[in-house]
Amino acid sequence: SSSSSASASAPVRLGVVGCGQMGAGIAIVAARHAQIEVVGLDAYPASLDRARQFMKDWADKEAKKGRMSSEEVVAFMGRVKFHELGDSAAMKAEVPRLDFVIEAVSENLDTKRAVFDALQSAGLRADSVLASNTSSISITKLAAQVERPERVIGMHFMNPVPVMPLVEVIRGLRTDQTTLDTTLNLVTAMKKEHSTSADRPGFIANRILMPYINEAVFALQEGVGTAEDIDKTLRLGTNVPMGPLTLADFIGLDTCLSIMQVLHRDLGDSKYRPAPLLVNYVEAGWLGKKTKRGFYAY
Ligand code: CAA
Repeated sequence: SSSSSASASAPVRLGVVGCGQMGAGIAIVAARHAQIEVVGLDAYPASLDRARQFMKDWADKEAKKGRMSSEEVVAFMGRVKFHELGDSAAMKAEVPRLDFVIEAVSENLDTKRAVFDALQSAGLRADSVLASNTSSISITKLAAQVERPERVIGMHFMNPVPVMPLVEVIRGLRTDQTTLDTTLNLVTAMKKEHSTSADRPGFIANRILMPYINEAVFALQEGVGTAEDIDKTLRLGTNVPMGPLTLADFIGLDTCLSIMQVLHRDLGDSKYRPAPLLVNYVEAGWLGKKTKRGFYAY
């Protein structure tokens, strides 16, 4: 294989596995740029349909704002195709042509492992980069699940993907330089900025963001201020677009809790203990905006 000597350029054919909110956003920022063809893969046909609709709606909105012509919208949609992960004929035809794959399936090691297995048995090339959008699983650990762990890397996109300028790039212990260079070229081609983080719990973004959100929940729980006053203080006092509790509702309280649990477990410091009120909300099924109830009602 020429994998380690290959020079790094921006990939031309990208696979996105897991076409939920993050995957569809990743497909958008890739397909906006003419040289990148995108293959969206998901276990569920309904997710593929939703992702296609989400992309179309996004492009139509861009067109309405005068930022894309109707020809560009057609070309944009033409650069994307979708297949079911279980469609083995399509997988065998498409997967060997992928230069780069980003997985954005649910945060579960077994689910991710099953995706890697499916890609490998469909003929993923040894020189194709395998990136994970995980926010809470070690890249080094994910890499150990695949052939050629050197080509595994973390690409942590922020929600909403089409809007947030940053991709956090995480180098696992065994990630090689070619993989890093190819990834940074892709980030640039997507017109995003990057930061690099070591493979430590929460990386940079969530190591800092989640304890901040968790502290806001402690402040609410202790009656330091109302939810409105806590958010207003941070929003108008520090110029963040959303206060911490609004942001928690936006991210999903289950996601916030699960990342705090990872920080607490893997760093072993009581300063990362999840606020009991956050646990209560998640146990009540008040998960934020997506369930129409979190620290606020929607
Ligand atoms: N998809 C695509 N575009 C979207 C969008 C979405 N879901 N939501 C908003 N937008 C676009 C709007 O179309 C609008 O675009 P234009 O200005 O080009 O017309 C722009 O974003 C601003 O939207 P709005 O005017 O409707 O609302 P706003 O000014 O309040 O901005 C926001 C909304 C961009 C979400 C802003 O509130 C914000 O930046 N919030 C913080 C988001 C954040 O911190 N994200 C990171 C979360 S942490 C994470 O993702 C990592 C993790 O692992 C948990």
